[in-house]
Amino acid sequence: MSRRRILITSALPYINGVKHLGNLAGSMLPADVYARFERARGSEVLSICATDEHGTPAELAAAAAGQDVRAYCDEQHALQRDIGAAFHLSWDWFGRSSSPENRALTQHFADALEDNGLIEERTDQMIYSIDDGRFLPDRYVEGTCPICGFRPARGDQCDNCGSLLDPIELIEPYSAVSKSTNLEVRDTRHLYLLQSRLQDKIRAFIDSRPEFPPLTRSIAYKHLDEGLIDRGITRDLAWGVPVTRNGRPRPGFETKVFYVWFDAPIEYIAATQEWANATGGDWARWWRTDQGADDVRYVEVMGKDNVAFHTVSFPATLIGSGEPWKRVDVLKSFNWLNWYGGKFSTSQKRGVFMDAALEILPADVWRWYLTAQSPESADSAFTWEAFQNLVNKDLADVLGNFVNRILKFTETRFDGLIPEGGAPGPLERTLADEVSARLAELTSGLEGLEIRRGAQALRALWVLGNEYLTEAAPWTAIKTDRERAAVVVRTGLNLVALFARVSQPFIPATAEVISAAVGDGAAVRSWPGPDGAAELDRLPVGRPVKAPDVLFRKIEDVQLADWAERFGGAPG
Ligand code: MF3
Ligand code: ZN
Repeated sequence: MSRRRILITSALPYINGVKHLGNLAGSMLPADVYARFERARGSEVLSICATDEHGTPAELAAAAAGQDVRAYCDEQHALQRDIGAAFHLSWDWFGRSSSPENRALTQHFADALEDNGLIEERTDQMIYSIDDGRFLPDRYVEGTCPICGFRPARGDQCDNCGSLLDPIELIEPYSAVSKSTNLEVRDTRHLYLLQSRLQDKIRAFIDSRPEFPPLTRSIAYKHLDEGLIDRGITRDLAWGVPVTRNGRPRPGFETKVFYVWFDAPIEYIAATQEWANATGGDWARWWRTDQGADDVRYVEVMGKDNVAFHTVSFPATLIGSGEPWKRVDVLKSFNWLNWYGGKFSTSQKRGVFMDAALEILPADVWRWYLTAQSPESADSAFTWEAFQNLVNKDLADVLGNFVNRILKFTETRFDGLIPEGGAPGPLERTLADEVSARLAELTSGLEGLEIRRGAQALRALWVLGNEYLTEAAPWTAIKTDRERAAVVVRTGLNLVALFARVSQPFIPATAEVISAAVGDGAAVRSWPGPDGAAELDRLPVGRPVKAPDVLFRKIEDVQLADWAERFGGAPG
């Protein structure tokens, strides 16, 4: 029987600097938890991410850094790749939207869409900055949001209300480069993708995906109900995919490139081609339904601000091409992780960014907090106090303490060997039933990418360990009944091995340490079966085990005060 195949993409992080914990919590991390879970279950997984390198975010950040944009992207890509690895994000490939593969594929899609009558050249009015000597597309212009009044709203989108904007709608606009208000509106030619003609096909596509969660569906239908609008897919910019027609520069478009939101999702496919070119893999069986991709379950993970692009724009590209491209089966979207009541803010130095996070605590601590408090069904607020409380309780008191207690006891009372003798009693049978129930909950939670539900079930499993030890009290039993103590210790050690396996998607580095402590090695990367009793009687007796070093140190109040100072606390 062939294995289930799962393709996972997480929204591509912009190249403009290291991402904050909110970005991690809402796309890359849940995608990784799911990828690890599916691999453990024996699915064939391809997990793809990349840096989103084109457009105004890249140009502006490079200019601010005083660097050539290509050199800037090279540097930032390597940085984001390394930080991802340090967070144990187990991508099969971390690509670049500036790759030759993406350039070719983006130009191919534009041709295919035009061949199908879905591209039109139009004359646009765009903001031109006389002082800068250039057009100001998207983020090059800022001003007041016409919808909610927020200032500064960016030309492409308001960060406050999330509305997608056209730069000329901004009230009292100014150049993001020079701050100049010496602006005028000029004519410029652009390519438009006629999404209005794809309205029915895109609605049929969304209708065919009842599995999409409510947040995703409501955003998609909002756009469909308002009526799809034709979208400009080129920009007056230098950095991006050059605009061609059938392999030649398109006349009149020599100083233009494709819009970053046109080429970025195409990079999901192109990154798979990068992976194939580097590893000898077969990209087409993941993406072409005429070459086996019909069997693939394709899961996309992203923040809610990306949903419109993935339910409307990217499907328009794929469907409009008329070619047999794989389309998303499950689109999992997340709300915001906020910083206290407000937003993470780079400029105001508020919030924790991925690199700084690892300077103060190991990746697994962050991974646990960000999954247990995942901004899943609603926004979630980071506070240092809640962070300390959760980490100390779940990781130090519950999981760490349990593993340590049972292993230390095995070392002192059973020569560090998994003891034989005795038979499970009523306490073990109750425990096995509870383990089965929580395992089922955890497995189905992760299957459905319900990250919080999964984390809750995992925590409940950990709690069972301590409760069992307290009730079974092997330290008392050993005084009178060594066989009984042996049963409890053996059961406890099996729980340790089980905890390693079920924790692995969430806290992979710690899971490896725990697994090694009971000599269970690579089994940590396999998912347990549904039968609790079997899982509690799996390790061979006589095997040596060894207590690990402290798994999680408690966060002290003084550390907390330090970090609140360094990273900013409550806004205001
Ligand atoms: N870079 C975008 C963001 O951070 C996400 C791009 S997702 C993809 O909001 F579709 F372009 F890949
Ligand atoms: Zn707004």
